[in-house]
Amino acid sequence: MLKKILLVLLAAIIIIQFIRPAKNLSTAAPTQDIFVVYPMPDSVHRILAKACYDCHSNDTRYPWYANIQPVYWWMNNHIIKGKRHLNFDEFAAQPAQKQAKWIRHIYEQVDSNEMPLDSYTWIHKDAILTNEEKALVSNWAKAIYAQIPDSLKKKKK
Ligand code: HEC
Repeated sequence: MLKKILLVLLAAIIIIQFIRPAKNLSTAAPTQDIFVVYPMPDSVHRILAKACYDCHSNDTRYPWYANIQPVYWWMNNHIIKGKRHLNFDEFAAQPAQKQAKWIRHIYEQVDSNEMPLDSYTWIHKDAILTNEEKALVSNWAKAIYAQIPDSLKKKKK
């Protein structure tokens, strides 16, 4: 009985290796990225690129273990959800109100240490932001938010 269960489990593990949604890899240079709308100093871009872009852009740097299921599904789920909430590569394509919301959410998430996700920083130690890095990102986003007309800022949600 135990042998049968193990065999079924093994078969299932093998089968799920073949069920894989497409990777989040864009070869095209983004034409709607945040740079189209707002300037971003290199110092800020470097931080966002290492700590956020894997889940909030169209181009994820996949580690080797992403090739193993169900790890890939789990990552894919974060990427899909992450991009839905904020996508730096498609920033300029959003309505102005949504852009304003995304900018506000960036500093809120960084200030409250909610992003990057803990499950990400367990492995990506370089994505654990120092206070200095947090301040760079947060101040950059706040400075942009301050320039956005109030009419585009919806009430807190
Ligand atoms: C491992 C993937 C991952 C990384 C890395 C990551 N995020 Fe997220 N992010 C998510 C997911 C998933 C969500 C959707 C909300 C949730 O499920 O918690 C999200 C949501 C957000 C939101 C929207 C929050 C809201 O209230 O709507 C913002 C803003 C955000 N992330 C900013 C960042 C920033 C800035 C970084 C880098 C400092 C970052 N994230 C790094 C996965 C990630």
